[in-house]
Amino acid sequence: MDLEEQRRAVETSFLSNLHPDDAPRHPLYAALCDLAGQTPQVIDMMLEVEPTQRRAVLFLAVLHDMALREPAGPVGGHYPTAIFLAGLESGMDVDTARDTAAKVEVGHSDAQAILQFALDHDDELIDAMRVRRTQTNEVGRSGLLMLGLQVIGRGEPTALIDLGCSAGLNLVAPSYRHVRTDGVELGEPTSKVVVPVDVRHGRGPTAPVDLVWAGGIDLDPVDPADQEAARWLLACQWPDDLDRFERTRQAIAQWSSMDSRPEVKSGDLVEELPRLVDAAPSDARLVIHHSWVVSYLTVDQQVALRSTINDLRRDRPIDWLYLEHPSGVPGLQPPRSIGDRRRGSSLFVLDRDDRGPVVLGQAHPHGTWIALDGDWR
Ligand SMILES: C[S@@+](CC[C@H](N)C(=O)[O-])C[C@H]1O[C@@H](n2cnc3c(N)ncnc32)[C@H](O)[C@@H]1O
Repeated sequence: MDLEEQRRAVETSFLSNLHPDDAPRHPLYAALCDLAGQTPQVIDMMLEVEPTQRRAVLFLAVLHDMALREPAGPVGGHYPTAIFLAGLESGMDVDTARDTAAKVEVGHSDAQAILQFALDHDDELIDAMRVRRTQTNEVGRSGLLMLGLQVIGRGEPTALIDLGCSAGLNLVAPSYRHVRTDGVELGEPTSKVVVPVDVRHGRGPTAPVDLVWAGGIDLDPVDPADQEAARWLLACQWPDDLDRFERTRQAIAQWSSMDSRPEVKSGDLVEELPRLVDAAPSDARLVIHHSWVVSYLTVDQQVALRSTINDLRRDRPIDWLYLEHPSGVPGLQPPRSIGDRRRGSSLFVLDRDDRGPVVLGQAHPHGTWIALDGDWR
């Protein structure tokens, strides 16, 4: 890519960052992405970052992290999440702090103030973007993961490997409460982490999930028990969705309080995968899963992942499940959906060991809804 093409790619990342359905509900990020995408100094800053990380979400998360670090500081007042944390710090209970923050209307003028803050702190911002990675650990995606595990396992003992699992919050998917609009409820009914999924088309599976083992790999695993790392997980969320923010806070708290947790290996997912497959119990059905990870890899790395999984299949059956945006993962050769392409949706693909890849459905990138391709009961 020449320099002009690189600049255009960064602009596009800002201007297409929000799913079209989401933009009206997220006026702060909609305005900030619009302003940042048209500000040459911001594009210059992004070009200082390694190519696979030059994304609007990284810029937004680094700024959000600065606000959360000092909720009552110069930029905190423009972020509902920082206002919420400032409320908690001042002694409010969760509901009062959330209601107080939800009443604050944020929009274009807040985005302008945040952008000015970014331009005034460009060196700090660039330094942070060079070492940080987009590590949104989206618990909302665990609802889709559970649906995929139902289709694959049909109640049989299943082992899960989650590639690029960030903190690993989705490795404990069965410990959350899952509520789908097709009437299916799964997981722990008493969990404070409630994961809703709107099933907009097709029929979802009804079988239980029996997850007997789980392990993850991440280039840079986030330890939720570490305060700064946990703040980074929260900074990767959107600042005007307080319910999602609070759900992640609860998932972090739940993970931190667990006596035994699945192991998250540090390393490259292609290199580490064979070792983790060896560690998985041989008498369980093995599922390899990834969500919003492989688009951060080069096409060569994507091809290497595909051939590694196919090589590993010579030793044992492996089902492969992923939620990715098809245009970002050409190296996986995702199948086409049989339904009309829904704007901005990700593909939820199941590549069964013996049957090849099919699209389970098209879904919101954060897992809030899925339009299933067919009947998966
Ligand atoms: C956008 S996050 C998604 C996290 C998680 N899968 C989810 O859906 O909540 C992408 C994650 O992939 C990890 N990652 C990126 N490249 C990787 C690689 N080559 N090997 C292992 N992990 C990688 C990042 O560190 C980050 O935690």
